[in-house]
Amino acid sequence: MDFRFTEEQLMIQDVARRISQEKIAPSAAHHDQTGEFPLENIRTLGENGLMGIEVPAEYGGAGMDPISYVLAIIEIAEADCAHSTIVSVNNSLFCNGILKFGTEAQKQLYVRAIAEGREIGAFALTEPQSGSDATAMRCKATRQADGSYVINGKKSWITSGPVAKYIILFAMTDPSKGAKGITAFMVDTAKPGFHRGKTEPKLGIRASATCEVEFQDYVASADEVIGKEGEGFKIAMGVLDAGRIGIASQAVGLAKAAYKASVAYVKERKSFGQPIGSFQMIQAKIADMKCRLDAAEILTLRAAWAKMEAEKVGGRFSTEASVAKLTASEAAMFITHAALQIHGGMGYSKEMPLERYFRDAKITEIYEGTSEIQRLVIARNETGLR
Ligand code: CAA
Repeated sequence: MDFRFTEEQLMIQDVARRISQEKIAPSAAHHDQTGEFPLENIRTLGENGLMGIEVPAEYGGAGMDPISYVLAIIEIAEADCAHSTIVSVNNSLFCNGILKFGTEAQKQLYVRAIAEGREIGAFALTEPQSGSDATAMRCKATRQADGSYVINGKKSWITSGPVAKYIILFAMTDPSKGAKGITAFMVDTAKPGFHRGKTEPKLGIRASATCEVEFQDYVASADEVIGKEGEGFKIAMGVLDAGRIGIASQAVGLAKAAYKASVAYVKERKSFGQPIGSFQMIQAKIADMKCRLDAAEILTLRAAWAKMEAEKVGGRFSTEASVAKLTASEAAMFITHAALQIHGGMGYSKEMPLERYFRDAKITEIYEGTSEIQRLVIARNETGLR
């Protein structure tokens, strides 16, 4: 057991910190207020290897390990949660999905532009009527005599949907088989039959664009199938295990921002003639925030380590990923709520970022599997019961 990071890990943390502080933090309030997609910042992150952190250099990425990925996402989320959503989906749902389950030709074709941040990748699983119960999807892919598929249906809540060039799509190829009737496809959003719906107005992470997408007789060739027909659900779940580490990291970064602001504020703000940090009720809040923050960070790093081990020797890291996501997202809610309370009226004002942190934190308990789903995954894996 060694809590020190390697030089390479510290280097990518440093790069992420520099860009986050110099470019992302100063524009975060603007992007939150306008909902404008931060394309320029995303390009800068891409030029510095942060849109394909674990992608090998031969496919245009930084070739770093999962711990480096966690460290970078924490830095980005500390500056702005919405940026870290775009980065996380690009890295862990799109690039990781193709690297893990795609063919060599698919890796060559689709990864480089996304890993370099020249284009954006997305992941389409959720539908208007199926979120947690992902196998209830209705989007249908019908195989043709020539081996191609015709796809019809809708997907909702697609992170980066309004700007994505490529999307990993999950569609039913055989509804009679349930989970085993789902297939994964690579979608090129420039092809006919792909349509975008309106951008969702959201409570938080407002600069991360989200929309519904629709397929009307969209044709995917046999070469655009990811994995084999019927393997889509396992691919989605495997990819989400990695994605949940990204969301846990984002929750840690966001919680860190709220925690650091609170520690500074309780030393400076005076009440009844003393800094409010000398009052026991505030001290209790700071101590509880610190414990939850550290627990979340350590469990997230453990999940990244478990992913690294699984990549070497095979096997899954689902429990570690779900434990990290559940703990970190609930820590982010607790810490941003306490931070807002500590800041009082100032916390409630848009003059400070506390209210944004509070709004942004909520999504971490919802996307890439709600807290209820994380509990279900953990308990099923621990007990073996269903
Ligand atoms: N890795 C590999 N395979 C897995 C797996 C994993 N993590 N989890 C399950 N599987 C396999 C199972 O072993 C099983 O295979 P066998 O039949 O061969 O044993 C198969 O998949 C079906 O598994 P279950 O019976 O457990 O499936 P279920 O229908 O009970 O669902 C669930 C399980 C955990 C509830 C799952 O549906 C789930 O995680 N739901 C939440 C979906 C989700 O996270 N959505 C987020 C949308 S994406 C998003 O938010 C992205 C964004 O834009 C930010």
